[in-house]
Amino acid sequence: MKKLKVAIIGCGLIAQERHIPAFNKIENVDLIAACDINENLAREVASKYKIPKVYSNTSEMFKNEDLDLVDICVPPQIHAAVGIEAMNNSCHIIMEKPMALNVSDCDQMIESAAKNNVEICVIHNKNFHKPFIKAKKLVKEGHIGEFVGMRIFLSTPHWDMIDLEDHWYHKLPGGVIGETGPHMAYMSSEFIKNINEVEVLAENHLKHPWAPNDDFRIELKGDNAISSVILAYTPNYWICDIDIIGTDAMLRLDLNGMILTKHSLKELKYGPFVKYYLGNILQVAGGMLKNVLGDKKIGTDLVIEEFVDSIFNNGKAPVTGEEGREAVRIMQMVVEEYNKKYKL
Ligand SMILES: NC(=O)c1ccc[n+]([C@@H]2O[C@H](COP(=O)([O-])OP(=O)(O)OC[C@H]3O[C@@H](n4cnc5c(N)ncnc54)[C@H](O)[C@@H]3O)[C@@H](O)[C@H]2O)c1
Repeated sequence: MKKLKVAIIGCGLIAQERHIPAFNKIENVDLIAACDINENLAREVASKYKIPKVYSNTSEMFKNEDLDLVDICVPPQIHAAVGIEAMNNSCHIIMEKPMALNVSDCDQMIESAAKNNVEICVIHNKNFHKPFIKAKKLVKEGHIGEFVGMRIFLSTPHWDMIDLEDHWYHKLPGGVIGETGPHMAYMSSEFIKNINEVEVLAENHLKHPWAPNDDFRIELKGDNAISSVILAYTPNYWICDIDIIGTDAMLRLDLNGMILTKHSLKELKYGPFVKYYLGNILQVAGGMLKNVLGDKKIGTDLVIEEFVDSIFNNGKAPVTGEEGREAVRIMQMVVEEYNKKYKL
């Protein structure tokens, strides 16, 4: 069986928690090299996951290895540079989100892919979690009536992000929203076309001198609806909850518990309430059973698996460079509005 020769660049948190485990579940790939400017980390990760080659420098790696696919898990500030270097070495690339920091960098990457005849795939992982995939299908098939909007609550524990003074998160355009904001952008753009108007409200609760704000309300308005978002960095927990609102029913997605429930109470009477509670319990119990008994693949596993398949079958990447660019375009609007309003 032909196997793709793969290298991972950036051996930090997401590479170890999600990407390397995802490759380890796929048969037709060989993870042959780990590269990180922190050579000790690259060695440690290579030894833990039995990756044969170690590099601390990308150009050295490209000089010595004949690679098919490179998985880029470095900070967003250098996504475009590393991505273009990999494509100029004839490699398909997987990019962690955000694809790049601005639209013009995305355009250069898309150009480079075309010139080198390779594909870009961006990890918009949340859109590939099973409840999200099911929600897309239900909306498309008309199960919620007409789609009229959505809301997203995304919270990241303060100790994981906002408290870390020297972290690269704070040096992104928009600071911390540059890190988790791309999730709201690509989740919203799945349902709302041509997002072209944004509003931002921000507050500072924790008063860290390095983070001007830590609690955000963001509105994303497109041709067909509005997405209302809370991005919170003050709580002590992770939550990713999404409500998708239709004229006949609403979908509730809990992307921590990986459960989708559908709600459509038509009458405010005792009888329907009982039916509503029972319906809820059955939906949650069914979702839990599927999660416990079914396959445990989550968003990143599924995007990487589909991309590898698409390379063998000359197909289209599950998240193309153009789709990655769209999320970056939305984030660029949000950051411009935020900076203008708060004079940052
Ligand atoms: N999809 C998600 O849910 C999710 C979650 C976390 C992070 N991410 C994304 O993953 C990417 C990496 O995030 P992380 O949390 O793993 O960061 P991290 O800081 O833990 O790891 C990044 C690694 O890249 C290395 N690095 C930096 N410059 C390099 C270079 N020039 N060559 C080689 N290695 C280099 C660093 O030494 C570090 O080990 C970011 O784009 C981030 O937004 C996505």
